[in-house]
Amino acid sequence: MTTLYLPLDRSEDVPIHRQIYQGLRRAILDGQLRPGQRIPSTRALSLELEVSRQPVLAAYEQLLHEGYLEGRAGSGTFVSVALPDELLKATSKRTKTRAAASPPPAPSGGNDGLGPFRMSLPALDMFPGVLWARLLARNARALTQAQMAYGDPAGLMSLRAAVAEHLRTARGVNCEAEQVLIGSGSQAALRVAAAALLERGDRVAMEEPGYPGARAAFDAAGATVKAVPVDAEGMNVTALQRLRGQVRAAYVTPSHHYPLGTTMTAARRLALLDWAYQKGAWVLEDDYDSEYRYVSRPLGALQGMDTQERVIYIGTFSKVLFPSVRVGYLVVPPSLWQRFVAARMALDLFSPTLYQLALAEFLREGHFARHLRRMRGIYLQRRNALLVGLERHCSDRVAVHNADAGLHVAVLLAEGLDDADVVRRMARRGLTATPLSTCFAGGSKRNGLLLGFGGSDERRLLEATRVLGEVLIDYDNAHVTRIAATP
Ligand SMILES: Cc1ncc(COP(=O)(O)O)c(C=O)c1O
Repeated sequence: MTTLYLPLDRSEDVPIHRQIYQGLRRAILDGQLRPGQRIPSTRALSLELEVSRQPVLAAYEQLLHEGYLEGRAGSGTFVSVALPDELLKATSKRTKTRAAASPPPAPSGGNDGLGPFRMSLPALDMFPGVLWARLLARNARALTQAQMAYGDPAGLMSLRAAVAEHLRTARGVNCEAEQVLIGSGSQAALRVAAAALLERGDRVAMEEPGYPGARAAFDAAGATVKAVPVDAEGMNVTALQRLRGQVRAAYVTPSHHYPLGTTMTAARRLALLDWAYQKGAWVLEDDYDSEYRYVSRPLGALQGMDTQERVIYIGTFSKVLFPSVRVGYLVVPPSLWQRFVAARMALDLFSPTLYQLALAEFLREGHFARHLRRMRGIYLQRRNALLVGLERHCSDRVAVHNADAGLHVAVLLAEGLDDADVVRRMARRGLTATPLSTCFAGGSKRNGLLLGFGGSDERRLLEATRVLGEVLIDYDNAHVTRIAATP
């Protein structure tokens, strides 16, 4: 329990025990102290207020007697969970305002952030939580004072080495541990890269459609984002070459284009690298979910083809473990290392050491590789269930764009369907999808749905596609009625 703010006026005539009683009662009624909240022990509060224990005991006794507080054997004193009726009637204006402003209840199954089709979710139900808890506990118990102090901005060397080994082995990334910079997820990595490479007004090229989070990171750095179209081979490098003025960097998702799912061909990769070499520009490779590929062997990273150290590689544990672990990484060319470390420090100094320690062990002891192997089979089944469901229930109205890799499928909607409207209607039925149009920066948007399948099992996905089919039929009917009603 943090220190309680309880002002006392020693010059007043009101006795101290009465002031403590009134102060605590007011704090409860005003909502400063909430039902179920632990309050300090009488000993701690008397020390805090610099008074003897007697008046504090007297105030607590009175509040216990009146039902404001409750004691729980062996664990302390708490604000009563069920305040008596007359207390609720006396609830202050402040508490009422707070209650009125609270959000409406979430529709069932939809708004807990875990609804079917929610993007960017891995199979949280399959994560080896007990093992992870054991690693965390073991490392927490052994935490040294040095590990409790400020850490290396680049991250723990044991984790950097384990990440470098994984990237070299599984992704063909050319790197040493000394080039790996740990950060809080790939979003923070994008912020660091933008801060290190771009000055206000600099131009950065992005895939169109593209990942809105990357656009937000470049905007935050004051850069000007130039949209470059994506076709069946990935970013159109000819269009990139035609951009006027100096372009400092190009952001790409070559393994699995976000959002459309295309894999950039080898010819395009070489053309992109060539562009970077000619222009002295940087390539930001976001390899956010490349570990999962269903139709052929995973392709190596673009970074592995780079012979002139122009590629900055970004990866994350959000999709392979779980997003709230908030650990991602950059692989930085040696010439940029100091700039990146400075930018990383400016952002938030360093990442929490305990999670880094546990994660390093998770990788080193082989649990990570085992988890990845297991998840490949699980995601293949989930993806197949989604495709079967879409074919069965939605094939008249959606076309699957690409389902070769990753944890989501992009589908294009039939002519005349507005994706934002469809997503709103889906939300009312407990489904969480992302409108494809939100990934376009320019005027000519395409309507589609981004359907995440990582976070739901096959049964839920099949059921969700059935509901989606109904939503699309209802939408069509409403649309036809609207058109018919138009004079
Ligand atoms: C393309 C892409 N990049 C980066 C991220 C950010 O991931 P995180 O910050 O959780 O590592 C996401 C998340 O969905 C993504 O889709």
